[in-house]
Amino acid sequence: MRKIGVLTSGGDSPGMNAAVRAVVRTAIYHNLEVIGVRHGYNGLMQGDFIPMDRSSVGDIIHRGGTILLSARSDEFRTPKGRKKAYANIKEAGMDGLVVIGGDGSFRGAQRLVDEFNFPVIGIPGTIDNDIAGTDYTIGFDTAMNTIIDAINKVRDTATSHERTFIVETMGRHAGFLTLLSGLAGGAESILIPEREFSVQDVVEKLKSGYDRGKLHSIILVAEGISLANEGIDGEFKTNRNLNESMAFYVGKKIEDATGFETRVIILGHLQRGGSPTAQDRILASRLGAAAVELLIKGDSGKMVGIVHDEINVLDFETAVTSKKDINDQIYQLANILSL
Ligand code: F6P
Repeated sequence: MRKIGVLTSGGDSPGMNAAVRAVVRTAIYHNLEVIGVRHGYNGLMQGDFIPMDRSSVGDIIHRGGTILLSARSDEFRTPKGRKKAYANIKEAGMDGLVVIGGDGSFRGAQRLVDEFNFPVIGIPGTIDNDIAGTDYTIGFDTAMNTIIDAINKVRDTATSHERTFIVETMGRHAGFLTLLSGLAGGAESILIPEREFSVQDVVEKLKSGYDRGKLHSIILVAEGISLANEGIDGEFKTNRNLNESMAFYVGKKIEDATGFETRVIILGHLQRGGSPTAQDRILASRLGAAAVELLIKGDSGKMVGIVHDEINVLDFETAVTSKKDINDQIYQLANILSL
């Protein structure tokens, strides 16, 4: 192993820069050369490479987004696209690659390993925290803190106007972000894709709060919830027209059933930005270093995560096929504390 590449792929997340910094500086520490691949897998197919030295990753540990830029690539899903990528990898003399991204990025990485026997190690970077084999993904903690900050602000105006707010959070098909932010933000109800709910129960809870003198409420709704139980069709789509958001249905139904003045807020992509928290910077630094060390050891086709504060290594295959479940104790606790 003499030269490695590093790329960020899929939805960006705060802390990706800290991970790139750790990859580059650990590699240089071990006398490896590093190539930065811009625009995720698209850059791999286009040969959009830049040499990285120690100073190229200076002054980025505190910055959100990714200096390498990111993309979701359709072309890389095709055998032709991957062949193009591999030709560029060989031409640049890369002996291994670190991919920082979510499960879609790991599926792409697995293809490179399977089809070309090319060494790749993955680092989980996504605000969704929906990847098995790691307690936390890079960006999750920062996104939670962003949501809590938003909830605090919404709470001020909700109190002044005695309103009910429906706040929609990201997470794609997963509710980790919503559940933990809801617990930390003291939301009255938390609706997530992993647990059944009925909007009628939310209404009853609101009414009983009202009877106790409570005049404002915050309902946290994960973007991926299904309302099939409510007889409402619709499936989760990213880049959707915001009017398709299930949060509007929940808001309307609550307003109709209670007569409470209701407002809906979609937090959207602001959850993906901002300076990473200390937790995310530390996680990114540890995982970045561990990924490079695995490549040097000759490992491939694996992801590095963190479990009980220790580095955990598992196959891409297991990471993308295993379902990470919501912590039921936390779900119950959030319900009890919000009664
Ligand atoms: O996976 C990260 C994420 O932010 C999800 O929470 C969200 O559903 C999706 O990406 C949005 O994707 P895009 O940036 O393509 O709109």
